[in-house]
Amino acid sequence: MRYPKIIEFELTTACNYSCKHCYCNAGKKSTNELSFDEVKKVLHDLKDANVEIVDLIGGEPLIRQDIIDIISYAASIGLDVMLNTNASLASKEIVKRIKEVYPQLKVGISFDGHTPEIHDFVRGPGAFEKTYRGFLNFLEEGFDVTVLHVVNKVNYEHFEEMVKFAMEHNVSLYVDRFVPVGRGELYKDLLLPTKKEVEHVRKVIKKYENKLTFYVEENISGGLCTAGREHASVLVDGTVVPCGHFRYDKEYYMGNLKEKPFKQIWESYNPDILISNCKGCPHFSNCFGGCRAFAKKLGLDYDPIFCEVHVDDKEG
Ligand SMILES: C[S@@+](CC[C@H](N)C(=O)[O-])C[C@H]1O[C@@H](n2cnc3c(N)ncnc32)[C@H](O)[C@@H]1O
Ligand code: SF4
Ligand code: SF4
Repeated sequence: MRYPKIIEFELTTACNYSCKHCYCNAGKKSTNELSFDEVKKVLHDLKDANVEIVDLIGGEPLIRQDIIDIISYAASIGLDVMLNTNASLASKEIVKRIKEVYPQLKVGISFDGHTPEIHDFVRGPGAFEKTYRGFLNFLEEGFDVTVLHVVNKVNYEHFEEMVKFAMEHNVSLYVDRFVPVGRGELYKDLLLPTKKEVEHVRKVIKKYENKLTFYVEENISGGLCTAGREHASVLVDGTVVPCGHFRYDKEYYMGNLKEKPFKQIWESYNPDILISNCKGCPHFSNCFGGCRAFAKKLGLDYDPIFCEVHVDDKEG
């Protein structure tokens, strides 16, 4: 059944990092960022639409001065919330304040590698140390933490070490694949993993699946892309897109929360338009069209990492 399981809410495009892969080209605050009152309205709207989990993302959500009030408000209306952060601003004091307002908050912390060398290659010098400190602060306060890991051409061969890092810290691991959008497009030659490299990651996941809790994105595991089916993203100005990676493609916009409630936007959207070119293919039940944003970005109907027909493109 189609329902809004995880809806991302981009609170800001401001960020203290300038990661190479960043699909939203984060750095500066947008002029159309929602005010605290507008954020509250959106959270209410998502609650009314029975969204299962609201994932607060950015930019860097912890950069917002009103972040504690936002988390506190979400808790007060009974929303199940995840905070998606680089954790570099998660001082002991901030983490304690978050705990006071929402101790059950799920916290997703991005690690692009298990060492400073690999992580900082994407995120900039000194990033690992700051993120690791914030990560420990959340763990010390007993938060439910997941490591968010985006597989790329540089880190894929260290994926097993990333798994061990998550196991050592007793946290779960979310695995996603680099999609060349935003700033990421500039670095696609450096960062795009090939089909074989993604297969390596899948093998490691298989090896450890009974030892660690994984949350694996369909663009790694295969299966039908959840964009517009279980998942959508509310951009910084209230625009709703089926996946954040469609942020620059106006033809994929679902609507704007300043004009219509989320429930109406969600119910009137048909996600089949994302796979319209693949649906008649006899291999569809094996490949499901792969990552739709990746296909779109490459100007193709299909994702070469999964497509069963365009075999020549798959070796990578
Ligand atoms: C945009 S960030 C916002 C939250 C926070 N600043 C952080 O880095 O965790 C949300 C997630 O998207 C991931 N991400 C950024 N650019 C990406 C891309 N081009 N492809 C796939 N994931 C990407 C980040 O690594 C992070 O886990
Ligand atoms: S991935 Fe996160 S930390 Fe990195 S620039 Fe983008 S928003 Fe900032
Ligand atoms: S387009 Fe689909 S498969 Fe690709 S990242 Fe978005 S939800 Fe995942």
